[in-house]
This record gives sequence, C-alpha cells and structure tokens, in this order.
Amino acid sequence: MTVLAASRTGARVERLPLARYTTLGVGGEAEVWLVESLAQLAEAMDEPYRVLGGGSNLVIADEGVPERVIRLVGPLAERDLEPDPKLSTADDVVTGWVGGGVPLPGLIRQLQKLGLGGLEGTVGIPAQVGGAVWMNAGTRYGEMFNGLHTIEIVTPGGVRQVTPADLKWGYRDSGIPRNHVVTRVRLKLRRSTPEDVLARMDLADTARKGQPKMKTPGCAFKNPGGVSAGKLIDGAGLKGTRIGNALIAPEHANFIVNLGGATAADVHALLDVIRERVPVPLELEYELWPEQGTR
Ligand code: FAD
Ligand code: EPU
Repeated sequence: MTVLAASRTGARVERLPLARYTTLGVGGEAEVWLVESLAQLAEAMDEPYRVLGGGSNLVIADEGVPERVIRLVGPLAERDLEPDPKLSTADDVVTGWVGGGVPLPGLIRQLQKLGLGGLEGTVGIPAQVGGAVWMNAGTRYGEMFNGLHTIEIVTPGGVRQVTPADLKWGYRDSGIPRNHVVTRVRLKLRRSTPEDVLARMDLADTARKGQPKMKTPGCAFKNPGGVSAGKLIDGAGLKGTRIGNALIAPEHANFIVNLGGATAADVHALLDVIRERVPVPLELEYELWPEQGTR
C-alpha cells in the first residue's frame, strides 16, 4: 500500500489493489480516496471517479481502473439508529442517519436485536448500505426500498435529499443514476419483536442455502421476467464450466466463483459462454470496471 497524500480537504489518498476490496477477489490497482465528509467527497468528485461500496457486485479488470475510486469512511460509515421522535409513530420507527459506508450485514443483525422489521429480507447480502440502496439489493423476502425514509444523494452539482416516492425504483434498480453517491439514509422500520424479525430473517437465509460459499460477486445476471437466470443457465448445461480459474458454480449456475487466481478475463469469457448458450437475452447484474469492450 502506498499512501500518496492527504488531499486539500484532508481525504486520505492511497494506491490500493482493488482485489482486496471485492468479494470476487479480482481487480488491479487504483487511486483510492477515503472520504469522510461532504467537503472531501466534493473534492474527490473534481476528477473522473467511481464509487466503491462493499465490492460485492463488481468484476474489476486486472489492470485496475484509471479513475479515482471513492470509499466512504469515518462519519460516512457510522449509524444513528435512535428513533426520531418527530417522525416515528406507534407502528413505525424513523431512525437517525445511517452512513452509505456502513456494512449491511452488521446493520441487519443490529436491527433484528432491536426488534425493528423491514430490511430483514436482505440478510446475507455482503454490501455496504450505499451500494445496496443504489442497486436496491434484495431477495424475494424484501429489498432495501422496503425500509427507507430519506436518501441523501451527492453529485458534482450538489447535495439533495429524496424519498423513495421521488425515485423510479424496482427490481435491482433504485433509479439513482450511476456515480450519484448515496452518502446517508434514514431508515423507516416497523416496530416488531426480535423473535419475529429473526423468524423472517431465517426464511430469507434458508433461501440461500444452495448458494456457493466461495469468492464470488453474487448472481451474474438479473432474473429475466421473474424466471431464475440460474435455472436457465443450469438448463443450458453450463454448471461446472471452467475457464482459467473461474467456474460456473455446481451449486447454483448464476454464480461464477473464483477458484483462486481467477482473472477478470476468465470471468468475462464465462459470461460470454452463458450469453451464447442461454436462448433468452440476459441482463448483467454485475458491474464490470471498466465496462467490457471499452479497453
Ligand atoms: P459495490 O459492489 O461496491 O458496487 C456496486 C455498484 O454500486 C457500483 O456501481 C458502485 O459504484 C455503486 N455504489 C457502491 N456504493 C455506492 C454509494 N455509496 N453510492 C452510490 N453508488 C454506490 N444482491 C442482491 O440484490 N440480492 C442478493 O441476495 C445478493 N446476494 C449476494 C450474495 C453474495 C455472496 C454476493 C457476493 C453478492 C450478492 N448480491 C446480492 C450482490 C451484491 O451484494 C449487491 O449487488 C449489492 O447491492 C452491492 O453492494 P456493494 O456495496 O457491495 O456495491
Ligand atoms: N435453480 C436451478 N438451477 C440453478 C439455480 C436455481 O434449477 O442452478 C432453480 C432452483 O431450484 C429454484 C429456482 O431456480 O427452483 C430459483 O432459485 P433460487 O431460489 O436460488 O433463486 P434465484 O432466482 O436463482 C434469486 C436472487 C438471489 C437471491 C435468491 C434468494 C436474482 C438474480 N437472484 O436467485 O440474489 O439471493 O433469489 O432470494 O434475483 C443476487 O442478486 O446477486 C443474488 C444472489
């Protein structure tokens, strides 16, 4: 790790291997800006940039990326779950601000202990809050937009706060344009009991028992028209297909796993095989850095 400098506004700037920050464990180096305030974020946005959350939906090139990579840290990765007395009711709790850099799994466990329901369907998603909101991560047991009150979004043009009703959100889509940064959210949750929330969490957890436990960025493709893309890829006979050190998981065909030493090119090649062999057009759920074909 090379610490390059502290920026004008005090952000730490480091040259880091991105493989360390992705669940696939693939990705070369980039200039990473660790920003902990809106002033630091504004400075980081002065040049072309990308935003990195939990790295759980990314396939990053082995050469890395030339843009600045922004990570939310410090106060932008802190949470205030105290009910806001002005906005909360007998049934619902509206929390204080939860930073975009907060890891989602720990937050979900904490909400369960507090008996606050609404987001438990997202259990097991290894994202950060900002990334999970940006893509409306979820399962059939619930998605991020089931538990949001206010979303703070920062662009090079400024800061705005919106509600879910202001956005055209849907399956794996928040309606928030790329590179608009989700810095903080307020959650809107239902008052429940830890036992009830846990029971619903267990349902969502059980649904992922068949998913592989290896390094992966989750499902490669969105489900077309509600049909499991995994089932379609499986139906094309592709489970167990290996290119280099990347493998279509025998457990679930919509997961590509890194057997150790996989490259981004190995993963891209497997994605091409899937697109060629599955008779239905599939939309990528992963994000490729840089976008495939641009280099
Ligand atoms: P990253 O992967 O870091 O980034 C993904 C995108 O989000 C990029 O465009 C990035 O720029 C953007 N982004 C990140 N942070 C911010 C921010 N603060 N503001 C604005 N944009 C931002 N997904 C599901 O929906 N359901 C599942 O059940 C599920 N299961 C998974 C299981 C495993 C084992 C894994 C590895 C992944 C799974 N995923 C699942 C995929 C992944 O967790 C989600 O896509 C998640 O939303 C990615 O969030 P992240 O913070 O890791 O974002
Ligand atoms: N199936 C197969 N073969 C496979 C995979 C699945 O036949 O290789 C069948 C299963 O047997 C089941 C059906 O397809 O009958 C649905 O499978 P599953 O329950 O695994 O759900 P999915 O639609 O494949 C979705 C999400 C997952 C989420 C799970 C659990 C998408 C693209 N995938 O998978 O989300 O965890 O439901 O709720 O929406 C992700 O988005 O990254 C992700 C992992």
